Amino acid sequence: MITNDSIQKVLTHADIVEVIGHFMQLKKRGSNYIGNCPFHNEKTPSFNVNPAKNIFKCFGCGKGGDSVTFLEEHEKFSFVEAIRWLADFYKIELEESAPSEAYVAHLQVEESLRIINDFAAQYFKNNLLNTEEGQNIGLSYFRERGFSNATIEKFMLGYSLEQWDAFLVSALAKGFDKNLLEKAGLIKVRPDRVYDSYRGRVIFPIFSNTGKILGFGARILKKTEKAPKYVNSPENELYVKNRVLYGLYQSRKAINDKQECFLVEGYTDVISLHQAGIENVVSSSGTSLTTGQLKQIGNLTKNLTILYDGDAAGIKAALRGLDMAIEENFIVKLVLLPEGEDPDSFVQKNGSAAFETYVAGNKVDIIDFMMEQGLKEAQNDPFKKSAVANEIAATVAKIDKGKNLGLHLHYIKEASTKLNIDEEAFVGIVNNFIRERLKKPVKEELAPVSQTFDEPILDEYGQIVSMPEEASLNLYKKEHKEEWQLIKMLIEHGDKMYEAGKTVATHFFEEIDISIFEEPMAHDIAMIYYKYWQDNKAFPPLSFFTNYAMKSIKEKVIDLIQVEFTPSENWQLKYNIEIPDTEANYLDDVISSFAYFKLKLLRKYIAENLEELKLCKDPAKVEQLVKTNLLLKQQEKQLMAVVIVK
Ligand code: CTP
Ligand code: MN
Repeated sequence: MITNDSIQKVLTHADIVEVIGHFMQLKKRGSNYIGNCPFHNEKTPSFNVNPAKNIFKCFGCGKGGDSVTFLEEHEKFSFVEAIRWLADFYKIELEESAPSEAYVAHLQVEESLRIINDFAAQYFKNNLLNTEEGQNIGLSYFRERGFSNATIEKFMLGYSLEQWDAFLVSALAKGFDKNLLEKAGLIKVRPDRVYDSYRGRVIFPIFSNTGKILGFGARILKKTEKAPKYVNSPENELYVKNRVLYGLYQSRKAINDKQECFLVEGYTDVISLHQAGIENVVSSSGTSLTTGQLKQIGNLTKNLTILYDGDAAGIKAALRGLDMAIEENFIVKLVLLPEGEDPDSFVQKNGSAAFETYVAGNKVDIIDFMMEQGLKEAQNDPFKKSAVANEIAATVAKIDKGKNLGLHLHYIKEASTKLNIDEEAFVGIVNNFIRERLKKPVKEELAPVSQTFDEPILDEYGQIVSMPEEASLNLYKKEHKEEWQLIKMLIEHGDKMYEAGKTVATHFFEEIDISIFEEPMAHDIAMIYYKYWQDNKAFPPLSFFTNYAMKSIKEKVIDLIQVEFTPSENWQLKYNIEIPDTEANYLDDVISSFAYFKLKLLRKYIAENLEELKLCKDPAKVEQLVKTNLLLKQQEKQLMAVVIVK
């Protein structure tokens, strides 16, 4: 492992202009450099490189970061690969340290589990093919399902005997550790006894992308039992479920060749399709897709086709992972099978030619589908219709315009026509979502749209005339600009002098009660700053944040320190005060940031006070409230005076 010191050394040497200049042409413009963004198509350069802050930012597509981010995005490097590349570029020798004890222990467990799983898979396979019980029960079941020998071999299917401890006895005889067997999920250890986990079940080994056996799915055969249909391996050092897709190992090549990946629900769907010669298929194993799983597919193709049962549950399941897939730049299609059929039963019944014809004839774009589905449900209810419009806009906003501009525009046209909304108005809603997303890199689940939005304005026929104003959409909760501006000051100028014997950071932590911050991440960044200061007896350099390990924070900080974030004219109008915007004159910036924050707080108190006054009936209390009101107003005046005089 590369030592932390080495990483820091590389990061401090990395010069963003030199690094990016190695890959593309940059032109000097003022104190910055500009160029055509390598991450999206453009003719006029909106890609900015800021040498002073050692970061880049594209104002067109929103990508930004430090040298490492650039290499990760541009060269598809991992963090470590990027560090190694930079070390090589700057001829810095990297110090490597021995991995930590905990990490070594982790690797050891991982390797032991792998060996155990190998043994178990062989053992179950042998049961299936070479024992009487295996042949009579397991093999005949697979035969009934139409699985050939070659298929059984390809997926390394197996069988676990009904006996309580058949596997346990063999594994212990081999010298495997009981605790590790338990960790692998193969046995159950109870106070009174130890026994096999998968008794009387057929076994589906789950492979990694490189063919390691990570775990097992075990299907029950007797229909009478109350036991669950499938028992699956637990998560452990080896098996990290949200990164694994069933069938990916066997399907990788075909997915890449065909440039399409079918997504099905079950183990047996994958297997039957393979047997029918359709080999570009994976299963999410009955759960909704995770980002980690999508990334695995995304390395091979961006075309994802979901094949689900056409019943309501199937449709719901298909739509669940959609937004995530869109965010990962997938083009998602949907094929709903005739009700009651899954890919396995369909292809077994009708054969592969019919399957392919059906898929070709029933493949629909998932956003189109969502729209039609929504409109069907909404009928003529205009409120429901507007909810659909918002939902579609939120989804369309997730398409990376830089990468899929055509698709983005296609949906905007489609949606505005189908939903009967003015195209420009729809673009406006979509853009609002995009802006919101760029501002807030942390992924958040959107609340159900119908509850989140104000109602649109309708004409007498119930058609949508216009959508609510940006400001009235509840989704655009307070943007907390004042808090962010303070944080920006803190991380950029915290170490500088505020007044004699006092730094900006000291003043910040004396003056500002961050526990009242409404923006959780702003609060967190202040805390991280504080902790660094306490731990290191020094203020964190800007690079500490622009290289911060937690991506959401790193991205937010990089966003924050872009020049464009400085207070907008809007502020000037809103507060009716002059806004200093010179970078060099940090103290003006700092003082006004404190003032804005306090002003905003004061105005909140004033509003609350007035609200209370309105409702108050008790004369004594009223008098008290009026006094407070006057006091607050006075403070507001003073604060305004301070800011204006400056
Ligand atoms: N599943 C599970 N546990 C269950 C039921 C289902 O883990 N109790 C997962 C399995 O990964 C399964 C998938 O959900 O493959 C889909 O379920 P289902 O369609 O019921 O299973 P199939 O694999 O299609 O099995 P079969 O056709 O044999 O019924
Ligand atoms: Mn099935």
